[in-house]
Formats: sequence, C-alpha cells, structure tokens
Amino acid sequence: MIYLVAALAGLAGILFGFDEGIIAGALGPLRGAFTISPLDEGLMTAAVPLGALFGAMLAGRAAERYGRRAMLMAAGILFTLGAVGASMITAIWMLSAARLALGVAVGIAAMVAPLYISESAPPAKRGVLVAVYQLAITLGILLAYLANFGLGDAWRSMFLLGALPGIALFVGMFFMRDTPRWLQARGRTGEARAALARLHGLPPSDARIDAELAQIAQAGQTESRDVARWRELAAPAVRPALIVAMGLFLLQQLSGINAVIYYAPTVFKEAGFDSHSTGLMATIGIGIVNVLMTVVGMLLIDRIGRRRLLAVGFVGTAVSLSMISIGAMTESQSLDVVATIGLVLYIAAFAVSLGALPWVMMAEVFPRRVRSLGMSAATLANWGLNFLVVFLFPVLIATIGLGGVFAVFALACLTGIWFTLRYVPETSGVPLEVIEAHLLSGLPFHQLRPESAGRPNAAAAEASLALPREKTGALVAAIVMHNPYRSTLTPMLPRIAELAYENHQIRTALYAIWQDSAFARTGTLRASDLSAHKGTIWRFLEHIHYASPEFLASVREGGATPGNPNAH
Ligand code: BGC
Repeated sequence: MIYLVAALAGLAGILFGFDEGIIAGALGPLRGAFTISPLDEGLMTAAVPLGALFGAMLAGRAAERYGRRAMLMAAGILFTLGAVGASMITAIWMLSAARLALGVAVGIAAMVAPLYISESAPPAKRGVLVAVYQLAITLGILLAYLANFGLGDAWRSMFLLGALPGIALFVGMFFMRDTPRWLQARGRTGEARAALARLHGLPPSDARIDAELAQIAQAGQTESRDVARWRELAAPAVRPALIVAMGLFLLQQLSGINAVIYYAPTVFKEAGFDSHSTGLMATIGIGIVNVLMTVVGMLLIDRIGRRRLLAVGFVGTAVSLSMISIGAMTESQSLDVVATIGLVLYIAAFAVSLGALPWVMMAEVFPRRVRSLGMSAATLANWGLNFLVVFLFPVLIATIGLGGVFAVFALACLTGIWFTLRYVPETSGVPLEVIEAHLLSGLPFHQLRPESAGRPNAAAAEASLALPREKTGALVAAIVMHNPYRSTLTPMLPRIAELAYENHQIRTALYAIWQDSAFARTGTLRASDLSAHKGTIWRFLEHIHYASPEFLASVREGGATPGNPNAH
C-alpha cells in the first residue's frame, strides 16, 4: 500500500518535471506560430517557478486546514486545466497565464506530495520513498525532453500531454485516505487508525497499530490546538530545522542545476556540439543520466545515511563544476572534452545526492506542529532561487562568461560541504517523533545520529551513573551561575537539575566536569572548568530559558526529556 502512496504522490513529481522541461523544446515551434519578444520569452519560462512561489506560500496553511489529500486533488485539477489551457491558446500572453496556473499547481504539489509520503511511510523506508518523488521529477524532465524530440513542431500536443498525469493524480487521490498523522491531529482518531491499518495491511485492532497510533498521539500532545504561525519557524528551538531545510534548497539551486536543465543545449553548443539535433540528443542523454543516478541515490539514501551522501554529492559537484569552468574558460579543443565529461559527472553527482536529499530532509526535520509551514518556507527557498538562477543565467553569461558562472556554482558546492558537516543531522532510520524530540531538546541538531536516538553511548552513560543524583543539584547550581540566563534559570534550579540528570548527554558532561574540576573538594566552580562541555550545556540551558512552563511540564509527563529523545 505504501508503494501505491509513493507512486501516486510521484505523479505530482512527474508533472513538476514535465512542466519544467517542456518549454525548452516548445520554444522553437512557438516562435514559428507567434511573434515572441524577449520579455514574453522570459515571462513564459519564469511563469512556472513564479506560480510555484505562490503555490508554496498557499500550501502550508491550506494543507493544515484542508488536509494533504484535498490539496493534492486540487493540484490535480489545476494541472489538468493548465495543460488544456496551454494547448488552446490563441495569444502568447495566454500561455504565460496558463503556465502561471501550472506553476501554482507545481508549488502546491512540490510541498504536499513529499509531506504526504513522509507522514505515511515507516521510518526505515522514509528516505527512499520520498526520493521516489525526486525520481518522478527527473522522469518528468526526461519525458518532456522526449516529447520535445518526438513531437517536432506539434507544440499544442506537447502541452496537452501534461493533462494525463493531472487527471491520474486527481482520480488516484480520490481513492486514498489522508495521512494518519494529519487525521490524528484533527482529532479524527478512528480514521487515523483505519488509515494506518490500510497502510500496513493489518487489521485496525492489531497491537502494532495501537502502538504506532499511541506514539503519533503522544507527539501531538505537546502541541497546542491553534494554527502555527510563520514566526514560530524562527523560534530558537525550531531554527536549526529551518536552517537545514532552507539551506539545503539554497545550495541545491546555487549548484546551478537548472542552468543545466534549462540551458543544456546552449552549454553543449559551447562545448563543441554544433548541430541542433546533436544538442538535443546530448540533452536527452543528460535526462537519462539524471534518472539513472537518482535510482542509485535511492538505493544509497537509507543505507549510507543523509550526511555522508550529501558530502559525497557536494564534493562531486564541486569537482565537476570546476572541470566545466576550466574547459569553458580556455579555447583548447581537448578541454572542451573535459567540460563535456564534467557536465555528465555533474549531473550524476547532483542526481545521486543533491537532487533528492533536500526534499527528503525538509519533510523530516520540522516538528509536527510547524511541519507544513516549515516545508512551505523550504520550498519557497527552492522556487525563489530556481527563478533567480534561471532568470540571471543568460545575463551572467554575458558578463562573466560560462566559465565564470560555473566557477560561482562550484564555490556554492564547496560551501555545501561545510554546511553539511556544521548543520545537517543524520535522520536516516530515525522516527519523526524522535527527530522532533532531539530538536526540541536544544542539543546541537547536527549531533543527531540513529545510534544516539536508539541507545546513548553506552559506556559514557554507564560511567555517568557514577554521578550521584543528589550531587547534581549543587553542580548544576554552580554551573548556572556562569550562564547569561542565570536570572530566569535560578528559580527553576530543582527542575533543571532533574532534567539534566535524566538527560544522558548532559549527565555525562556533568560527570566529566565533576571529575576534572576541584568542585567536589572545594565547592567552587570556575568558568574555565566547563571547558569542552560548555557548548552542550549552554544550549541545553538556553532551551530551558526559552521553553514555556507547559512544555517543560509536558516533556516530563511524556517521559521525553530534553536531550533524551528516545525515552518515550
Ligand atoms: C530540483 C529542481 C531540478 C531537479 C532536477 C530537483 O530536486 O528542485 O529544481 O530541476 O531536481 O532533477
């Protein structure tokens, strides 16, 4: 069943890729049928990312209120209307309008489809299933390139083809249920149970369904009933997730992918493929490598983990982009070959990693309460930069040349390596509720690991048991005295000591300080005694400083204490 869910949501991805890619080949015949000014051309091309920007803005709130399923059905209708509209135009402004509508549908679908999949999928398969969505995008792009090639001048048919997956999306979603997590959050527990049972192919009364439903419900308990607001995304506890989700899309787009997807024929021409048809063939080649390497990425994503795969992708794209840049900056024929190989390597490195990972991770890093809003923000970063890169690429080529532009893209990918190590958590195989508990614990987000979520470092945890509970209070009080938030924290000292003791990582740090400092003998603690543990403990305290009393109470009742996310 879950595969059907992924396949259906994947239709949304096909539509995304198709509407992105189709304009490249349609432009030629359209020029024969209408007089098209450069402004018209820019508008037509940019209408999809522009519409998607609106779609993504709209979708966050609407997916909370009306549900994931309803939004995907709405997108299906809009995709169909847009495709039919584009095929029937009698003036060129109508095409821009139709593509704007298609863009809105793309924007909605690009946010809701990964959300729908990730909320339905079991943790161990979540990565690969959301990656199905990226595979669908690449298939959509390839289909569009093939339609361009096969249909020749029949541009009306090219646009009309997009209606088929639109209809299929609507009809398919009509027969599906919404996600158990959304239904549960709306208080529709009976339906949530039925949806879960159907996903797993188990009877609704099965004990495993009870357990999963309890976990979902428990994660929902800490949420208040009101609708989340945009500014909550910037709250200190949520910010690390926002940085990861938006940062990954920013880097994905700044790696220059759409400069290649939209302008591959131009780039090939620079590299020495002179005829139009060899350029188109080479473009189709790019489309095929994109699809195949996405499949390889899917096989790796839940196995080698998100962080490692991202790092590999950024290294690969940085190297290959440098090859293209060097090839393009020099006149030598042999370096044109280097540039062409670089282009193929670039698509391969992108597809195996940077293509799917931002989609996968944006659907898993946010706490449930702000998940759809957060994903809206992330896809906004995607569309905003997509638009900017595609729009500016021709201008930039004219000013700093192809070599210069690709050097900038290479720099962005180098930054990506640093970003991955510094900010990105390892979420592979970790249940969404555990990711959420880790995030809200205030511990550095990038330290999340499947093992730390499952079992804290056993030896350290055992050693830290040597720290007697009653000693923690005095030590924590001494530490808090050095903290900038001491005035708000002091009244809560007993509670903080409890939370610190229940948190393996903090307790381990406390034990180390206890052992390494003179506090046990003298009763005084110098700021320098905190040394290496300061960052961890400060973040823990900062979180408590910002947390509401209700939150502190609820983490206790739920058993998930800050930094000990697996307790429930
Ligand atoms: C990106 C698109 C891009 C596509 C290429 C997606 O992940 O968001 O902008 O065109 O990958 O395969």
